[in-house]
Amino acid sequence: MKANREMWGSKLGVILAVAGSAIGLGNFLRFPTQAVIHGGGAFLVPYFISLLLLGIPLMWMEWTIGRYGGGFGHGTAPGVFQSLWKKNRFIKYFGVIGIFGPLVILIYYTYIESWLLGYTFYSLTPKFQEALATGQIANFLSGYQGLEKNQFFSSLIPAYLFFLVTFFTNFAIISRGINKGVAKLCKVALPFLFVMGIILVIRILMIDGISTGFKFLWTPDFSMLKSAKVWLAAAGQVFFTLSVGIGVILTYSSYLKKTDDIVSSGLSSVATNEFAEIILGSSIIIPAAFLFFGGNATVEIAGSGAFNLSFVTMPIIFAKMKFGLFFAFIWFLLLFIAGITSSISLIQPSISFLEDEFDISHEKAVKIIGLFCFVLCHIPILFISKGVLGELDFWAGTFCLVLFATIEAFLFSWVFGINEAWKEIHHGATIGLPRIYKFIMKYVTPFFLLIILVNWIIQEGIPVILMHNVAPENKAYILMTRIVLLLIFFILVVMVKVAWRKRKLSSDS
Ligand code: ALA
Repeated sequence: MKANREMWGSKLGVILAVAGSAIGLGNFLRFPTQAVIHGGGAFLVPYFISLLLLGIPLMWMEWTIGRYGGGFGHGTAPGVFQSLWKKNRFIKYFGVIGIFGPLVILIYYTYIESWLLGYTFYSLTPKFQEALATGQIANFLSGYQGLEKNQFFSSLIPAYLFFLVTFFTNFAIISRGINKGVAKLCKVALPFLFVMGIILVIRILMIDGISTGFKFLWTPDFSMLKSAKVWLAAAGQVFFTLSVGIGVILTYSSYLKKTDDIVSSGLSSVATNEFAEIILGSSIIIPAAFLFFGGNATVEIAGSGAFNLSFVTMPIIFAKMKFGLFFAFIWFLLLFIAGITSSISLIQPSISFLEDEFDISHEKAVKIIGLFCFVLCHIPILFISKGVLGELDFWAGTFCLVLFATIEAFLFSWVFGINEAWKEIHHGATIGLPRIYKFIMKYVTPFFLLIILVNWIIQEGIPVILMHNVAPENKAYILMTRIVLLLIFFILVVMVKVAWRKRKLSSDS
């Protein structure tokens, strides 16, 4: 076991780091979009049920098993899973998903995050004002993404430069370690993000007639509750927003001490995230879009993708306000900051894996993972028009998430055993969990997840595997992306095998 594993320096630091990982584009873009397309206020019914039965229990499970595995010197799922089920030789390979998922999400998340940095800059330039004044803000976005050459952008170079800055900033922060890098950033970034969020919400609330926009979002359409799709969407949103089922919280909590309180810390990070999601996230985009564009158009824009709402619709809305460009600047900066506190958490598992299982120094691990990710990031950058971003998001951001959470929940409650698990959660806790959660963690969370997973495979998995929705001209690119993903997974499996063989040889000798 590595002797000098870093530990979190303060309770506040770790709560903010986990909240920073959770609060991201999911809160400000994905949540309002999902709510609108799935029945407005009615979406909140399955959302809160999923939060109570899946999100919060999974959050506690990840904090617990991460801290437990950290006690054996493991900061990533292969080692953590193996510590929970010592007799099973194969369980560590399932843990590979907890390194693979965040790594693949990182590949496209960093690129989208860099657009936000680019837009933060451009929102202050005459070029952006011209695009707004001439009704060409959608062309501005396609020019920026390199999808077309126009008077705003003649190449991908500006977007690439912003990507380089974003990418190297992420790795510079992570290279400073969890306390001086991650916790320090989150301690500054989160308060700043909340202030900006509150400024924007106040500005939106000051618009005449905005209450009709809120009514539109919060008027429930209960007929939607009969649809399995709405339940899947709500559960998916809860996972995405809390960053559970990815493997990152597990890694963060592996740096806790055995006596650290995980019951109240886990709950505080959920509460912080939900404030950002329910109060701030829902009060900006949708009410404003409804007021300026009307209900049908808003649902249509929301359905056409979260990028359109944030990069096209929001600037148009801000342009109609006094000092609108200043608010557009705040909007993009807020999103960029929300993005960066999440993306650094996605890098951490791969770094911890090299450090813990191969005894590689932190500096060297950052360089190796940095180089590997840098090469891979070029897939979404160069092939965005071929649908590869959606492909990466499906496998890493949706499928792996549910699969990993299901494995984790069964391992925790059935293999490790709910009685042992219950004791482990309460080590160092200042408050006790309601006893009903013992029942929920054993019977409800794992089986609810299993039902979601099976449904997902039937409804979405099979058509996706067979590329039913892929345009014929993009099939070769999607296939290439899948081959790369399989290769990454295979490399990680081999690395786990090598690490454990080395460990066995050294313990035998
Ligand atoms: N939890 C992060 C978000 O909401 C990934 O964007």
